[in-house]
Amino acid sequence: MRIAIVGSGYVGLATGVSLAEVGHHVTCIDKDAGKIKMLQSGKSPIYEPGLEAFIIKNLEAGYLSFSNDIDNGCSTAEIIYITVGTPQNKDGTTDLTDIKEASIDIAKTISQDVIVVTKSTVPVGTSETLKQLIEENLVHPVSIEIVSNPEFLREGSAIHDTFNGDRIVIGATNNFAAGVIEEVNRPFNVPIVKTELRDAEMIKYASNAFLATKISFINEIATICEKVGANVDHVASAMGMDKRIGHQFLQAGIGYGGSCFPKDTKALIQLSGNVEHDFELLKSVVKVNNNQQDLLVEKAKQRFKSLTGRRVTLLGLAFKPNTNDMREAASITVVDKLIAEKAEIIVYDPVANETAKRTLPEGVNYADSFQTAVKDAEVVFILTEWEEFKQIDLSEFKRLMKIPIIFDGRNCFDLDVMRVYEIEYHSIGRPSILR
Ligand code: UDX
Repeated sequence: MRIAIVGSGYVGLATGVSLAEVGHHVTCIDKDAGKIKMLQSGKSPIYEPGLEAFIIKNLEAGYLSFSNDIDNGCSTAEIIYITVGTPQNKDGTTDLTDIKEASIDIAKTISQDVIVVTKSTVPVGTSETLKQLIEENLVHPVSIEIVSNPEFLREGSAIHDTFNGDRIVIGATNNFAAGVIEEVNRPFNVPIVKTELRDAEMIKYASNAFLATKISFINEIATICEKVGANVDHVASAMGMDKRIGHQFLQAGIGYGGSCFPKDTKALIQLSGNVEHDFELLKSVVKVNNNQQDLLVEKAKQRFKSLTGRRVTLLGLAFKPNTNDMREAASITVVDKLIAEKAEIIVYDPVANETAKRTLPEGVNYADSFQTAVKDAEVVFILTEWEEFKQIDLSEFKRLMKIPIIFDGRNCFDLDVMRVYEIEYHSIGRPSILR
């Protein structure tokens, strides 16, 4: 099939590249000319394992192209995916400006019947609104159908997830359109669920809200574990063995971040409010997560009384490992709090230092290696569980730090191992190791 992808961010690129990989002819479009130029030369603008290799392979094979001109890919496409960003407004509602603008731009280029697929996360009912908007702005008398096909990929494993997903959701009112999108996705060999449009839109919000709830739940259990002398990792591990609960998303830590959970939970609370339902449970999930991000600094303040002038090193800045994405990362909150405490801040992330420079406030010192970051530190905070940190020779902390005290927000190390190294070690939901 000839497919156009409007919006070449995370979702757009992962979708476009994967569709090209299974043999469709795909043009990925973006307004950002610099980004398109980069992609045309086979370079990925985002850090995503496996993505660049697929870009190069499919560019060379002629299945994939990139364009700055919406006319270019859309006018001859049989299917157009909308994958532009749907950020959140200050009040938690979804900002539909870009997706509406993209829909109008698409409408003006279409010169043959086409299926438009919304992949961006949008409030329930939006796909219908977009269909109407496109129809109102058509230049040629063509027919369009709309399909909602929400994206469940995780950053850092986007390509893997596309080929190994648990399900592909296809929401449509028109059976023919749903059937076409089913065929397009068949080569991925992932179970396909066909639903109504509104069901598909809701499935995305409900799934992300549920996963966020699991995280906040285990983080609450972690807080209680600390108070009663239990170990949350042992608790979560045995809980997860119950198949009804499962092991995934039970890792206690400094809270969830990223481009989806914080935004989607707030949007669902807003959506519920619009239909006069107070989603109390989800409001608590968000509140617990906000508190969780403050936890390490609060613990350190209790330990030292004051952090003023203290040399504090943050290891890990991205919202999770295997990405350079800083959106809603816990490190942003931690840095703000440390600046307010007048601490001296050194930071290091194996991949996200450059994105962090554009996100974090002035006054933060960037180190280019673990060793330079940790040297002479009086406290280390671990905020992202990068493999590089988990594999570190623990004696390095003792050798390099002025005083070896670690506040680990991701429970990277085994308590028994830590005891051997005589490092003061505070983590989440587990007994502290004091020297
Ligand atoms: C998420 C969803 O998983 C994906 O299906 C959706 O389409 C987009 O949002 P992503 O934001 O890439 O994907 O990251 P994910 O791996 O889900 O992690 C989100 C956040 O939760 C991270 O900050 C992570 O550190 C945190 N998390 C995750 C925990 O704190 N504990 C866990 O057990 C799992």
